[in-house]
Amino acid sequence: MKRISLFFCALCAITTAASAKTLVAYYSYTGDCEAIVNELCKQITADVVRIEPAEKGLKYEANNYALGTQLLNTIKANPDKASSYPAIDPVNLYPADYSTVIIVTPLWWSQMAAIMQSYLFQVGSELAGKKLGLIVSSASSGISGVVADCKRLVPDADYCPENLWIHNSNRSSTSALIAGWITANQLNQTQTTSMQINVIVGGTTFPATLADNETARAFARLLPLTLQMTELNGNEKYHYLDSSLPTGTYRPGTIQAGDLMLYGSDCIVLFYKTFSSTYSYTRIGAVNNPSSLAQALGSGNVSVRFEAVSTATELLSSPLQAQQQGQLVFHDGQIFVTHNGQTYTLTGAAKQ
Ligand SMILES: Cc1cc2nc3c(=O)[nH]c(=O)nc-3n(C[C@H](O)[C@H](O)[C@H](O)COP(=O)(O)O)c2cc1C
Repeated sequence: MKRISLFFCALCAITTAASAKTLVAYYSYTGDCEAIVNELCKQITADVVRIEPAEKGLKYEANNYALGTQLLNTIKANPDKASSYPAIDPVNLYPADYSTVIIVTPLWWSQMAAIMQSYLFQVGSELAGKKLGLIVSSASSGISGVVADCKRLVPDADYCPENLWIHNSNRSSTSALIAGWITANQLNQTQTTSMQINVIVGGTTFPATLADNETARAFARLLPLTLQMTELNGNEKYHYLDSSLPTGTYRPGTIQAGDLMLYGSDCIVLFYKTFSSTYSYTRIGAVNNPSSLAQALGSGNVSVRFEAVSTATELLSSPLQAQQQGQLVFHDGQIFVTHNGQTYTLTGAAKQ
């Protein structure tokens, strides 16, 4: 009986962790919020969606910010009418699939940028009960008006205790500010389910970590895979799969050596150099230490093998099988997991 309840507790813990996914939704007109999101994504695992206006090429700042002002005034005059909000492109990631949503937005005339207001007007009800973090970028103005806009559009979210304000005077400390903000709001607790794989090139094995998103999970289900990868541009190797993977594209801006990305819906790309890019990708993961990756991949086409690495979490997701194989043992009210020859105690997993 005690064993059954221990199994149950372990499974509950896993289910909770697996649903703890984070979505970052951002708008950026001049690139500041894009840079913030790129830094944020180095520090947390998240799916990213960029909100884009349907009408392209508009100059919101022209004529002393006339258009930006007009869009905000239209919203202010009738905030409950959908037609008050500028149209945006369709968004293919849904807040409903996430436990945490982080909004990154510019400030316009001390209010939330009109384009981001359009998005929140559309998804406000989907965000009810979700943990919501807010990051605002301005030149210098304080963000209380943006916070008020966010609460008007998303009244029922579970707001993080601290918002993050990045402005021109503290922008050079963006990385440290984000790190402090993540810790203050306990947003790093969603990283518990990172999936490890091995990327094997010739005789060298590069451990890699998959992103916590649908694309990475779909990729993991294909493993093991040996791909004949084609050289491109002296910085990447790519391979077109026979089938598509789910997408959640964003523009990383800077590609890091070791990034494993999906281009379109079916092209696996392994980057071995760091460089600036205007292309959009979906993140699959990254090689943990890419320092000798370029050398291993060489300058031509190359065969690369991707293999799953079983983790303690995976052992726990099939506890019966793991127990039969002696990898999962219950003793004296504790769960012991044996993984790669090491035995770990799962403290706190068992409720007496
Ligand atoms: C239409 C418009 C209005 C703005 N109004 C303000 C303002 O009132 N106060 C301020 O400090 N910055 C203002 N800004 C500057 C942006 O908030 C700031 O440059 C921000 O970092 C831009 O983010 P982005 O590059 O991601 O678009 C305004 C920018 C635009 C385009």
